[in-house]
Amino acid sequence: MELTSFQAILFIFLLSIYLYIFFLRPKSKKTTAHGFRIYPLVGTLPDFLRNRHRFLDWSTGVLSGCPTNTAVFHRPGKVHGVITANPQIVEHMLKSNFENYPKGPRFRILLTDFLGKGIFNTDGELWRIQRKTASYEFNTKSLRNFVMENVYVELQTRLIPILESAARTDRVLDVQDILERFAFDNICKVAFNVDPGCLGGDGTAGAEFMQAFEDAATLSSGRFMYALPSLFAIKKFLNLGSEKKLRKYIATVHEFADKIIRTRLEEKAEKKDEDLLSRFIANSENSAEFLRDIVISFILAGRDTTSSALSWFFWLLSSRPDVEERILKELENIRRQNGKSIGEIYSFDELREMHYLHAAISEAMRLYPPVPVDTKACKENDILPDGTVIGKDWFISYHTFAMGRMESIWGEDCCEFKPERWIENGICKQESPFKYPVFHAGPRMCLGKDMAYIQMKSIAASVLERFGMDVLLENGNPPEPLLSLTLRMKGGLPVRVKERIIWA
Ligand code: HEM
Repeated sequence: MELTSFQAILFIFLLSIYLYIFFLRPKSKKTTAHGFRIYPLVGTLPDFLRNRHRFLDWSTGVLSGCPTNTAVFHRPGKVHGVITANPQIVEHMLKSNFENYPKGPRFRILLTDFLGKGIFNTDGELWRIQRKTASYEFNTKSLRNFVMENVYVELQTRLIPILESAARTDRVLDVQDILERFAFDNICKVAFNVDPGCLGGDGTAGAEFMQAFEDAATLSSGRFMYALPSLFAIKKFLNLGSEKKLRKYIATVHEFADKIIRTRLEEKAEKKDEDLLSRFIANSENSAEFLRDIVISFILAGRDTTSSALSWFFWLLSSRPDVEERILKELENIRRQNGKSIGEIYSFDELREMHYLHAAISEAMRLYPPVPVDTKACKENDILPDGTVIGKDWFISYHTFAMGRMESIWGEDCCEFKPERWIENGICKQESPFKYPVFHAGPRMCLGKDMAYIQMKSIAASVLERFGMDVLLENGNPPEPLLSLTLRMKGGLPVRVKERIIWA
């Protein structure tokens, strides 16, 4: 440990100032517009600290007990905020009053080391430019075809052979890890036309980068959980503990992204690729550093979201043979109608016909949303639709994980995995994005939603029709959620794969 005695004394000194300022200050007693006492979600610091490791379940319980599923949050260091699971408030902050709820400085400061000025971490003009440039690319038919083609190649040449080999040798696989590798290869190919081959060979390539990316995301999101909000800055300044590790992981991630940028800038003169990165490179005002931030944001968007959704989907399915049966029946019907056999590529139109599969994946994300909590800042004092007063510079988070578990939104069976709730006359219906903000809503709505469903449905269909999975969690316990920037499973999802007998 390279901590000098000067650093240690400085650390203790700064910590003492913090403790003095924040613990001895009187607590504020706010009221809503109607004069009700605010429901103190994290009114006392010990409460928060006690439940920090199970934040999602605990805060869900608190929100379901609040009359408008909304609570006010006070923490040391002048951190005040609102957490909500109320669709009207979600609509207010994400759409009707969008300009008043940017990401804001707190979000930017905590994530800037990892995400820089990438699309996830910017507001105003910097965000608008990236959104506009990326939107062109996401709306093209050529992107859709490219995604279809790459998903197929990754499935046929990498994922399926790995599962076949694991089934034949009785090897235990971590499905979460495999899906992250799949998604990572896929997003790099689609966005930057680079194939990192993480799922190539025996599916263990690129381990250092994958681990560094994962740890950088987890430690960055951990900065939101400090009891004393700027403690991370002190640790960062002194290069201590988690901040020291974070610095190292970020350096590895930057090195990977820098290599992509360097290669692409060198090729620029010769090639004229029409992928996402080339659209940003075409603007000569974009610095190499800004391009790197863009690359990292897209890796985050593409790698951790679909893999999270599918990991929870496969786990939920493992205890619901009835749902699996209905999915297999749907696939069989589509194959029969289109004269296909198992293993042949599904076209875009055939994927669209998979209504029950679409419903089952959407239902898995309702209960386990890949982005479980999303936070904005309040620019000017405001009154929320339920009458809660929110102050300038407060944060406001909508809690998608809790929203999937609110009786007020989904009824008494809200905690049940029930794909049927999405089906109306055989068609998977669209839900209001304010009731189901899994892909966000309003002007900053997810750009990759369609691409994500293509990928998730292709993987689920191809895997399920050929393989069964036995989940190997101790005593049949559910996976422990790991709250990073996305919702992952602590320790992964170990499974034993069995090949289905296919009658020709
Ligand atoms: C199941 C899969 C996915 C889910 C649940 C999901 C969810 C979300 C959410 C909640 C946001 C808002 C985040 C924020 O406030 O900053 C978002 C934004 C975004 N997503 Fe996705 N996403 C998924 C897949 C993808 C994929 C595959 C891509 C493709 C690269 C993608 C690209 C983006 C982009 C570019 C934004 C930023 C939009 C903006 O700030 O204007 N997403 N997504």
